[in-house]
Amino acid sequence: MDTDQLIALATEARGASYSPYSNYPVGAAVQSESGEVFTGCNVENASYGLTICAERVAVFNAVAAGHVRLVAAAIVTPSKGAPCGACRQVLLEFGPEMIVHIASPDGDRRSRTMAQLLPESFGPSDLKAWSERQQDD
Ligand code: THU
Repeated sequence: MDTDQLIALATEARGASYSPYSNYPVGAAVQSESGEVFTGCNVENASYGLTICAERVAVFNAVAAGHVRLVAAAIVTPSKGAPCGACRQVLLEFGPEMIVHIASPDGDRRSRTMAQLLPESFGPSDLKAWSERQQDD
C-alpha cells in the first residue's frame, strides 16, 4: 500500500467521525508490518473528556485484530494538525519505527518519523531494560 492509498483510507474513515462538539473531523489509518490496514475516526461525547482521537481508534482496531507491529500511519485533519501527545505515546507503543503522514483534505501533506514526533520518549524498551536490571540484582 502506498502513501496515497493510506491517506485515501484515512480520508474515508474521517467520513464516519462523530464530532458534533468540535466540528473537527479526523480520520486515521495504520498499516501493520504484514500490510493490513486499520482505520479510525474521532468519537466525541457529551461528557467531553470521554472523547477518543482517530489515531487511537485506528491503533486499537489493529491491536484488537492481533496486529501489534505497525509501520505507517496516515492522519487527515481539517487543519493539517499533527497527532496529539496522548496519541503519539500510543503510536510509539506499537510503532517505534513508524512513519506518520499528516494530511489535510485539501491535499497538503508532510511525513514525520516517530522519533521526530516524540523525541526522548518513554516506551516498552525502558521497562524491558529496567526489569532485566532487576533480575541481575
Ligand atoms: N483529535 C483527533 O482525533 N486526533 C488528534 O490527534 C487531535 C484531536 C480530535 C479529538 C476531538 O474530537 C477533536 O479532534 C478536537 O480536539
